[in-house]
Amino acid sequence: MTLLRLSGIRKSFGAVQVLHGVDLDVGRGEVVGLVGDNGAGKSTLMKTITGIHRADAGEIEFEGRSILDLDPGQRRALGIEMIYQDLSLARQQDVASNIFLGREPTKKWFGIIPGIVDRAAMDRQAAEMIRRLGAHLPAMNRAVGSFSGGQQQTVAIARALTFDPKLVIMDEPTAALAVREVQGVLDLIRRLKSEGIAVILISHRLNDVLAVTDRIVVLRHGRAAADLETARTDMNEVVACIVGGSGAQAAAAHEGRGAAT
Ligand SMILES: Nc1ncnc2c1ncn2[C@@H]1O[C@H](COP(=O)(O)OP(=O)(O)OP(=O)(O)O)[C@@H](O)[C@H]1O
Ligand SMILES: [Mg+2]
Repeated sequence: MTLLRLSGIRKSFGAVQVLHGVDLDVGRGEVVGLVGDNGAGKSTLMKTITGIHRADAGEIEFEGRSILDLDPGQRRALGIEMIYQDLSLARQQDVASNIFLGREPTKKWFGIIPGIVDRAAMDRQAAEMIRRLGAHLPAMNRAVGSFSGGQQQTVAIARALTFDPKLVIMDEPTAALAVREVQGVLDLIRRLKSEGIAVILISHRLNDVLAVTDRIVVLRHGRAAADLETARTDMNEVVACIVGGSGAQAAAAHEGRGAAT
């Protein structure tokens, strides 16, 4: 069943057209990889879903209803979450503070004075979120800035979970991670899927995309150049679609350019 449907999405910045009429469907609990060269329009397309950018033309439906008129807060309330590449964490603060940033559970003193942060409830709920993800953190009370990249990614995903999302968009979650940590984040994506949460995974690391997605959509120069079933494709085909050539020549050209950001 379709959760998200984009059709004919166009977006220009000034005179430069970045998206040329993109169609994209995401099903409930489906993990879709979004790949393409630097500047292909991936992040811009995702920001039209969260409402940070307004599409110039096209339609965006979530659970069958248009969300074009909704602001980012309203779209989040419907269950659309995006985790940005910089994770937007408060590095000096601990795990629970980050998970509930700005939305700390409060309790009333003697049932009358509102707005006191309920630290015990916050710690309990934060630990529960981490457990729900099947993840482990070295210490809940440490500044998250002292955590590894993968551990910080875990905190960001736990934070997203507190909004009860139906769709989580992740922009390059594994780009800066060591090999072991990559596996951890891929496991978290599988965990989200197992809970029925759909994921759009933007990544230049095609091995990660092939390992964890159900489908792979390739953006090229602002157009959806391919929509591939992961089980029926491979690295060569994906690379060929990204660079727009065909076969080994295209793959060699892509490998030659090395890891993108
Ligand atoms: N706010 C903006 N104003 C002007 N141009 C922009 C803006 N945001 C993106 N662009 C341009 O739109 C194009 C697509 O950018 P976008 O960030 O969507 O690409 P991307 O596929 O996410 O690339 P990468 O893999 O490098 O993250 C680029 O040419 C970029 O310079
Ligand atoms: Mg981007």
